[in-house]
Amino acid sequence: MLTVSSIADLRTLVKKWRREGDRVAFVPTMGNLHAGHLKLVDEASKAAERVIVSIFVNPSQFGPGEDFASYPRTEDDDAKALASCSVDVLFLPKADAMYAEDHGTSITVDKLSALHCGLSRPGHFAGVAIVVAKLFNIVQPDMAFFGEKDFQQLAIIRRLVRDLNFDVEIKSVATVREADGLAMSSRNNYLSSEQRKCAPELYRLLCSARDKAQKPESQLGEIQREAITTLKSLGFEPDYVSFCRTSDLEPASEQDSELVLLAAAKLGKTRLIDNLIFSRYARH
Ligand code: PAJ
Repeated sequence: MLTVSSIADLRTLVKKWRREGDRVAFVPTMGNLHAGHLKLVDEASKAAERVIVSIFVNPSQFGPGEDFASYPRTEDDDAKALASCSVDVLFLPKADAMYAEDHGTSITVDKLSALHCGLSRPGHFAGVAIVVAKLFNIVQPDMAFFGEKDFQQLAIIRRLVRDLNFDVEIKSVATVREADGLAMSSRNNYLSSEQRKCAPELYRLLCSARDKAQKPESQLGEIQREAITTLKSLGFEPDYVSFCRTSDLEPASEQDSELVLLAAAKLGKTRLIDNLIFSRYARH
């Protein structure tokens, strides 16, 4: 595995691979890699001859008062973990090469970015959109892999790729969980041992809310309200629990059948997100 920091060097390498007829799969990350990230890498290596993983803690997607400074940076361990996977290049761009001092371009993916996490993290998805667009332009991959764990992010990236005609196929990978159901996340490291014990309740609650939603006569609004109350009683500070249509993340109606239950809640200072994708019979 090669480690490359220069944008120009990465471009030269990718051009050479393309001349040789190799396809390139790309996995963008912010590092502090866990089994969820490595699952993306594994899928990427099955899908293409060449795999590039980037690690870049992107300042533009963190708001004021968020955890940009304290976000775990574990590049040596990450490089070791990737070296035992089929990765050709670990791309570690420098912040000043990614963002000129007078960087002035922004991308807003309307509607989708304003919902859910976008409400409590203004500017977050614009930061994600610009860095992913830049990385796509640098890497020029044939395909890129994203986790369903960040369902709203995945939807926004699909929309970005469609709207700006990026020639990149977006592949999604199911959420990887700890044995007790907690979705793996770099931010789980922030949890105290007490909080860590409580954290899987979020997933349990989503499972139980989904089961309730499958029952005839169930009212989605009521299930959401109940879930919020239960989260509060368990010590969470819920942001939202919302049954949405997978297609556009707007609130699901009784007629919709392809749903995602999205949730975000704080446990102490740590913001956890999770979701469940499921089908239900549409009611007419
Ligand atoms: P990061 O949080 O490091 O996540 C990188 C990729 O790993 C994302 O596509 C995310 O959805 C996926 N991922 C994280 N936890 C996962 C899990 N438990 N199971 C499956 N996949 C998981 O998401 C970002 O970085 C950034 O916003 C980025 C897209 C790199 C732009 O800066």
